[in-house]
Amino acid sequence: MGMQREPDRYGLMGHPVGHSWSPFIHGLFAKQTGQSLTYKLFDVPPARFRAAALEFFAAGGRGLNITVPHKQAAADLVNRLTARADVAGAVNTIMMDGKNELLGDNTDGAGLLRDLQLNIGCKLQGARILVLGAGGATRGVLAPLLETRPVSLTIANRTPERATELADEFALQGPVVGCGFADLPHEPFDVIVNATSAGLHGESLPLSPGHLAPETVCYDMSYGKGDTSFTRWARDNGSTRAYKGFGMLVEQAAESFSLWRGVRPQTRPVLEALLAV
Ligand code: ATR
Repeated sequence: MGMQREPDRYGLMGHPVGHSWSPFIHGLFAKQTGQSLTYKLFDVPPARFRAAALEFFAAGGRGLNITVPHKQAAADLVNRLTARADVAGAVNTIMMDGKNELLGDNTDGAGLLRDLQLNIGCKLQGARILVLGAGGATRGVLAPLLETRPVSLTIANRTPERATELADEFALQGPVVGCGFADLPHEPFDVIVNATSAGLHGESLPLSPGHLAPETVCYDMSYGKGDTSFTRWARDNGSTRAYKGFGMLVEQAAESFSLWRGVRPQTRPVLEALLAV
């Protein structure tokens, strides 16, 4: 009798992880591509992250997704970083490679770009882009957004200094400026991306309808049931193109899955299932 091979083990480490859709998404990807794997949630507080991640891999785990608040700590933990994870200074995907080394990647930016460009049909080259927030979520997507050659990328943040510091850090990569919400020009942007955590706390952003034209793509990197406070603001002010971040979530997962398994799953059926939420 041949030995039954155990499924390869994957998972998500974060704090909290309770409401994550990742097991659902990776489960559907595995089924679709005929891959034998498990995907589990690990709620790990910051003080235990390093030990928990190393234990997972030492015990034969093959790959982890990493989410808030561990993405920077994950970048410090791995043996090697991909170029895009190095630029972002954050890791959302770890894999054990063939040489027993941990490789850290960041698929968030690629996930956002794939959703905006391929799923939504949004043109970024030559666009005037506004990114709201100057935390880790913004840092992870700035370089990929600038690579699409927008005509301008403005970062607006509640604490203006964080926006100007981030803009200075990425200045060599494209036309990026930082400011406070009150300093924003009263002209419509082509694309507005919400990368703040305001919605998670049920708070709204100090935005003016002047930033918006009917065709402005309003993209919230966060998601949940119904409208977020940002997509509601967009719709209330006449936007016909307001989107939640489910597409980015599914696309970054597909990038991680491709890295781990060497096969790219189709995202459309999984995204359609989530958009019904
Ligand atoms: P993340 O890794 O999710 O980006 P973070 O680094 O804590 O988390 O950043 C959170 C971002 O959301 C910051 O830009 C924060 O603004 P400040 O830098 O001024 O703190 C922004 N944010 C959170 N709550 C907000 C609110 N109620 N209004 C406006 N911005 C908010």
